[in-house]
Amino acid sequence: MVPDLLNIAVFASGKGSNFQAILDAIKAGKIPNARIALVISNNSTAGALEIARNNRIPALHVSRQQFGSDETFNETLLQKLKDSKVNFVVLAGYMKMLDSSIIKHFKNRIVNIHPALLPKFGGKGMYGIHVHETVIANKERMSGATVHLVDEEYDRGPIVLQRTVEVAPNDTPESLAAKVLKIEHQIYPEAVRLFAEGRVRVNGRNIIIAPA
Ligand code: GRF
Repeated sequence: MVPDLLNIAVFASGKGSNFQAILDAIKAGKIPNARIALVISNNSTAGALEIARNNRIPALHVSRQQFGSDETFNETLLQKLKDSKVNFVVLAGYMKMLDSSIIKHFKNRIVNIHPALLPKFGGKGMYGIHVHETVIANKERMSGATVHLVDEEYDRGPIVLQRTVEVAPNDTPESLAAKVLKIEHQIYPEAVRLFAEGRVRVNGRNIIIAPA
């Protein structure tokens, strides 16, 4: 069976280099059957919005502060996704938790990337440079990146793809972050491709990747 077109919404708060990597892969024909329908940021100055505009992709700044209540904010977000017929959500450096109404609506259809080997070094406070500082402080010899499904628990959803990098004795949090980011740019497009090809089966907390 040919899977439906993956009509993606990207949520991003920052630079958007992961979004760029996925966009490049789509443009290069490496992710057939996928398009980016919409980019949403809580941050009006996010690089991700700029990348979207430069590529004529609808770019929306939607933040909680623009609304009178959590409810109207979340209803608006969900409506924007429905209006663009989004059927898959990619979190690419989005610094906010999605509301459970959105997570439920897109059950097993939301992915996130985390700059460490989950389940280690995830959860509250584990974002950005803090992750790499902690990895180094723990004298880990390996780190890496993880693409996982998003459920209502922070950084806890089933793992789709993971790749490791070595932590060198002279690595600083910054040098490790740069190494990990390179890996992120490889595995995020690969993970999106698996969904676009309809190869990801979710069975409770287990993920089975069907062979190509
Ligand atoms: C990445 O390190 C990602 O793992 C984390 O946020 C960062 C986003 O970077 N979730 P960018 O905006 O994609 O460049």
